[in-house]
Amino acid sequence: MRSNQPQTIYLSDYTVPAYLVDHVDLRFELFEDGARVHSTLSIRRNPESARSDASLSLDGDSLSLQGVSLDGRELQASEYELTDDQLVIADVPDAFQLNVVTWIEPQNNTRLEGLYKSSGMFCTQCEAEGFRCITFFPDRPDVMSRFRTRIEADQTAYPVLLSNGNDVDRGELEGGRHFVTWEDPFPKPCYLFALVAGDLVEKRDTFRTCSGRDIDLRMYVEPRNAAKCEHAMDSLKRSMRWDEEVYGREYDLDIFMIVAVDDFNMGAMENKGLNIFNSSCVLASQETATDAAFQRIEAIVAHEYFHNWSGNRVTCRDWFQLSLKEGFTVFRDSQFSADMGSPTVKRIEDVTLLRTAQFAEDAGPMAHPVRPASYMEISNFYTLTIYEKGAEVVRMIHNLLGSEMFRKGSDLYFERHDGQAVTTDDFVRAMEDASGRDLAQFRLWYEQAGTPVLTVSDEFDEAAGIYRLTIRQDIPDTPGQIDKKPQHIPFALGLLGSHGEPLPLRLAPDDQDAPDERVLELTDAEHTFEFHGVDERPVPSLLRHFSAPVRVQYPWTREQLLFLMSHDPDGFNRWDAGQRLTVDVIQSLVGTPKDTPVEPRLVTAYRHLISDSGLDQALVAKMLQLPSEAYLIELSESADVPAIHEARERVLKHLAIALRDELVACYRRNGESGAYEVTPEAVARRSLRNTALSWLLAINDEEARELAVRQFRGADNMTDHMGALRALVNSDYEDDRTEALATFYEQFQDDPQVVELWFSVQASSDRAGQLPQIRELMAHPAFDWKNPNKVRSVVGAFAGQNLAAFHHADGSGYEFLADQVCRLDDSNPQIAARLVTPLTRWRKFAPAYSASMRAALERIRDKKGLSRDVYEVVHKSLAD
Ligand code: TRP
Ligand code: ZN
Repeated sequence: MRSNQPQTIYLSDYTVPAYLVDHVDLRFELFEDGARVHSTLSIRRNPESARSDASLSLDGDSLSLQGVSLDGRELQASEYELTDDQLVIADVPDAFQLNVVTWIEPQNNTRLEGLYKSSGMFCTQCEAEGFRCITFFPDRPDVMSRFRTRIEADQTAYPVLLSNGNDVDRGELEGGRHFVTWEDPFPKPCYLFALVAGDLVEKRDTFRTCSGRDIDLRMYVEPRNAAKCEHAMDSLKRSMRWDEEVYGREYDLDIFMIVAVDDFNMGAMENKGLNIFNSSCVLASQETATDAAFQRIEAIVAHEYFHNWSGNRVTCRDWFQLSLKEGFTVFRDSQFSADMGSPTVKRIEDVTLLRTAQFAEDAGPMAHPVRPASYMEISNFYTLTIYEKGAEVVRMIHNLLGSEMFRKGSDLYFERHDGQAVTTDDFVRAMEDASGRDLAQFRLWYEQAGTPVLTVSDEFDEAAGIYRLTIRQDIPDTPGQIDKKPQHIPFALGLLGSHGEPLPLRLAPDDQDAPDERVLELTDAEHTFEFHGVDERPVPSLLRHFSAPVRVQYPWTREQLLFLMSHDPDGFNRWDAGQRLTVDVIQSLVGTPKDTPVEPRLVTAYRHLISDSGLDQALVAKMLQLPSEAYLIELSESADVPAIHEARERVLKHLAIALRDELVACYRRNGESGAYEVTPEAVARRSLRNTALSWLLAINDEEARELAVRQFRGADNMTDHMGALRALVNSDYEDDRTEALATFYEQFQDDPQVVELWFSVQASSDRAGQLPQIRELMAHPAFDWKNPNKVRSVVGAFAGQNLAAFHHADGSGYEFLADQVCRLDDSNPQIAARLVTPLTRWRKFAPAYSASMRAALERIRDKKGLSRDVYEVVHKSLAD
C-alpha cells in the first residue's frame, strides 16, 4: 500500500495551523458505485501562525480529485500539486473560498475509515484521521469549523439521511432521489463529522434538561433490531441526568441521535449529536444479551454521551492529547457505572482490566506515556494506557483534591476552554487553579511511561509502640525512557489489629482523633512513615481502593492474606487479598508433580465465601473468579503457558472436588428469582450459579451435568443460556457440548451478536478451540472477514483468551496468527494491528516460545506493502 517507510510524528514539532476553516459546506451524492463529495471551505490565514509562505496543504487519502476552484475560478492542474497524501495549492489569498469535488467508493472501503457501507447502509468513522478519506481538508483537531451537510440519495433504499446538528431542509429530487440538509451550530473538528444513510427504523423518546428544554432522543437501527433499543435509550437518559447532577453539564443541541452499525472498528463514536455504535455495544434484549453486555452498553452509551462535553465542546489540540478526552471520559463513565450499580464491583472490574492488560502494555514494546511524545500511526494509540491509565490519572487528581474541589476544577476547565482545542496540561492547570494545589510533580504521570513499582517493608518497635512503614518507588525503563523521576503517588492505607479492628493511624504520639484510613502522598524515591500508639504488630491494608495504578510488593504471608480476605473493611482490598493468595498458591504449583498438595487453607477460605450467604454476594461473586491465565502470565518473568494453565486447572478442580456439596447448594440457593433485572444483586446471583456450574462440570459431576442441560433448555435470559453453554463446552461431556452448540446456533443464527458469542465461547475454550477447530469456525458461513466483530470473536478470542491452545509448543498458534494478520493487513489495517498484540509480548515467554513468536513477527514484517499500522507495531516489537 505504502512504499515509503512510515514517518514518526513528534509532539515537539507541533505548530498551530497555518489556515483556519470557519465554515464547511458539504454536499454528498450517494450512489451504488460511489459517492461524489462537493465541499466548499471558507478559509482564512491563521493570525497566530508564524508561517510566512502562502501555500495551503490539505490532507487527502484514497481520493479521486474531480475539480478544485478558488473563489469561483477553476484551478488548472499546474496551479496545485497532488501528492500521495496531500493537495497543495502554492499561492492562496488571506481569505477565500475553496471548492473541491472528490469521488470516493464507500462500497469498496474495507478499512472502515471515512465513508463506508455496512449491511447496506452508508456510515462514517472519521476519528482519528478518516475525514481525509472523504474530502481534502486540514485533518487535525485544532481546526474547528461550522458544518452544513446536504445528503442526496435514493429515496427507497435510503429513506433516512442523517448528519450532525439539526435538519434544516429536506425535499424530493428527480429520479426517485431525495435530500436532507443538516446544520451543526457548534464549531467542531472534522473528526466529529458523521453521516448515515439507510433504511432504518426510528425509536423516539424525549429528555427534559435541568433548564427545562426538551431534547428529542432518536435511535436508528435496522428493522430486525427494533426490539433491542430500550436498554440503550434508558441508559442514555440516565447518563444525561447524571451528567447534569454530578458535573453540571446540560445537553446543548435539540436532537441527540444514536445509530447502530454492524461493521465497526471500535466500540462507538461520539460524533456531535449523532453517536455511531458498534451493534454489539448498543443492542440488547434479555434473551440475547448477557449481563456483561447490558453493563457494557450502559457504560459505552454514557461514555459517548459524556464526550459531548469532555471531547466535543472542549476538544484536543492534537492527537498527543488524546487522553485529555479519553482518560477523563473513561473516568466519568466509571463514576457513572459505580453510581448505577456496585462501586466495589465496578472498581474490581476496572482494576482487573488495568492490571491484566494495561500493565502488560506498559511493560511491553509499545509502552508509551499517557501523553505520548511520538507516534507513527495514531490509530495504534487508542490504547489501554490512553484510556484506562489515563482514567486512573484523573481519578488520582480527584482523590487528591476531593470531590468538591475536583468539581470546581472541572467547572473551570469547561468554562475556560469551551469551544477550544486544548492540552492535558490545560486540564491539570484548571485543576490547580481551582484548588490551589500544586500538581507540578503530578504531571509526570502524563510524561513517564511504565508502571511504578512500590516496594513496601515494615518494622514493629514493640517497646516504643511504633509501626514503621517504608515505601520505595521505582519506575521501570520503557522504550526510549530511562532513569525516571519519582512520581507523586497517593497511597491509601489502613492498619488492622489482631481481631480485624481498624487501628487509628497516629502520625504523631499525641495525634488524638486519628482516622483509621489515610492517603499518604509519596513524592520521594523513598519514604518512611511512623505510626504511634500501636501495641501489637498490625496487618497493613495497602493501596486501598487501588488508589494509584502501581504494583505493590510486600512480603505478605498466607496468614495475612487470609486475614485481610475476611477482615479488611475495604471491599476492594478483601478481593485483592483473595487474588494475591490464589495467585501465590497457583504460582507455587506451576511445574510441580500433579500430586503436590494444594494449600488447605485456600479450600477453607473459599468454603467460607461460598457458604456464608451473609457476605456481600456481589463481592463474593467477584472473589470466586480465579485469577485469569492472562494475569498469571503478566505476573511471571518467563511464562510457560501450558504449565500455568495446568496449575490453575489443578487448583480449580481441587477446590471443586473439596467443595462439591457447597457448590451444589450455592447453585440451588441462587436459582432464578422473579423477572430478569440487571441489579448488582441479580447479576451476582446469576454469576454465582454459573460459577458453581462451571466448577462442577470441570470435575465431571453428573448431577451438575443435568443441572446444566436443564438450565440450557430452560433459560429465559442470555446470561444463564451462555452460562450453561460455556460450562458444557468446557466440560468432558463431548456429546452434550456438540448438541448444545448445534441447538444454540440453530436458535440464534439470525442474530449476529449472539453468533459472535457462539464463536467466542468456542474459540476461547481449550476443549472446543484447538487450531483445527478454529479453522473450521473460520470456514463457517457466519464468519466474515470484513466484519471486525467476527474476526475478534474467533481470531481475537483464540489468541487472547485461549492461551494454552495459542501457545502450543509447536508454534502453530503463532504461525496461524501471523497468517491472519497478513491477510487482514490489506483489507483492514486498524484491526490487523490490534490483532498482532499477543505476538508483541514475545519477550515475556519461556525461550522456546519466544523464539517462535519472534519468528512469526518477522514473517509479518517481511510481508510486501505492509500498512503503516502494522508496520509500527511489528517494528517496535522487534527493536532491541
Ligand atoms: N472516540 C471513540 C471512543 O469513544 C474511539 C473510536 C471509535 C475510534 N471509533 C474509532 C478510534 C475508530 C479510532 C478509530 O472512544
Ligand atoms: Zn471515548
